[in-house]
Amino acid sequence: MVSKVSQKSFFIKTFGCQMNVYDSDKMKDIFIANGLKEETEFKSADYVVLNTCHIREKATEKTFSDLGKINKKGKQDQKIIVAGCVAQAEGELIQKRAPYVDLVIGPQSIHALDRFLKKSEFENTSITEFDVIEKFDTLNQFKKNHSQKSAFVTIQEGCDKFCHFCVVPYTRGAEFSRTLDDIANEIRSLVDLGVVEFSLLGQNVNAYHGHNTLGQSQSLADLINHISLINGVERITYSTSHPINMTDDLINLHGSNSKLMPYLHLPVQSGSDHVLKLMNRKHTRDFYFDIIERVRKVKPDIALSSDFIIGFPGETDQDFEDTLDLIKRVKYMNSYSFKYSPRPGTPAADKELIDDRILDERLNRLQDLINQQQMEYNQQFVKKTVQVLINGAGKHDGQVKGKSEFNQSVAIEGTQEIIGKIIPVEITNVYRHSLVGKQATL
Ligand code: 5AD
Ligand code: SF4
Repeated sequence: MVSKVSQKSFFIKTFGCQMNVYDSDKMKDIFIANGLKEETEFKSADYVVLNTCHIREKATEKTFSDLGKINKKGKQDQKIIVAGCVAQAEGELIQKRAPYVDLVIGPQSIHALDRFLKKSEFENTSITEFDVIEKFDTLNQFKKNHSQKSAFVTIQEGCDKFCHFCVVPYTRGAEFSRTLDDIANEIRSLVDLGVVEFSLLGQNVNAYHGHNTLGQSQSLADLINHISLINGVERITYSTSHPINMTDDLINLHGSNSKLMPYLHLPVQSGSDHVLKLMNRKHTRDFYFDIIERVRKVKPDIALSSDFIIGFPGETDQDFEDTLDLIKRVKYMNSYSFKYSPRPGTPAADKELIDDRILDERLNRLQDLINQQQMEYNQQFVKKTVQVLINGAGKHDGQVKGKSEFNQSVAIEGTQEIIGKIIPVEITNVYRHSLVGKQATL
């Protein structure tokens, strides 16, 4: 037993995508299994982990500015660990730029943290192997620490698509799918901790092709059907999908599996065939429209969201207008948009950039349209009833908040006792980012 006085502590800061959130949770399990306690701020922690993102330049620069701050203000003898995609991409270069970093650990090697904690050997090591099978085998051995009602579960890692803007194939490696049993076991142990909502994660989640116990390859639809039979699983979502992997079985599942939530994040990146080709997206805008039409046929009220990249090299005014046109036709509940950021080592990295002023103008126009659609989408819910999984205290006293089946944030009057329950809520007020309602009678 570790005595209270000498108990060491850790602090983890997470950047980037949900897959990093999942990895941070796993590192937390490793620290706790080694007798450490979580700290709420970095200054007094014995171990500080930055779990980093490399997707755009700004994300990478943030890592180095945070490292400088930690080095200056952190306690003496503090161990600094850089994990995540910057760790993978930059490797030992991180310690060249920031020599006080004790350990650099890529996303497929986070399980090695256990070894380091046990040996207390850190000095300037960098581990960036793609050891993804061993990663999940090792992580499974640690007791889970999860107190929320929703959990992310990584079911697939990596990417074989090689879009010309994207670092993921280089930072997360080739597509890898966990086995059906492995995932089901993790979900069962999370159900035992009270989790009812599961977000299945992967960089190309719908390219999932893990094996069942008979060694047969299973699709994402097979996996969702399997998981939805586990007692205690109430809600399932999946993210992020690529349009070319939206197979018939997955599309049809939206009409047949009531535990699969009516929400789909399906990034298109651009509405122009010319740009889609330059990006190496492997599909056209009509192909995308066709998927949306088929999903809406089986689930007419499905909520849709997307990612857009503005100003990919070669994007003309007309290409950009085509993107706005696609958005108008699809009508999204919400979307994420980013100015193109060249990433070292990607095929588009040395292409001529579009003037930043034009990028800003295009980004503003696109975001205005997305914001307007988001508000219009939410306005349809006034006086309607949605099912809300209450997951915590609200902003104001006497309020709790949660998520609707359409992935909207919803606040209602209520007390702590209903946290963890799925309740019907009649919507009274809507804002762009959230809804407010009152508990409805059944
Ligand atoms: N520049 C800008 N945005 C990017 N994304 C990925 N790579 C880049 C890049 N080089 C965006 C895509 C992706 C989301 C996670 O980040 O829209 O879907
Ligand atoms: Fe960022 Fe991509 Fe890595 Fe996620 S996988 S942390 S989005 S670079």
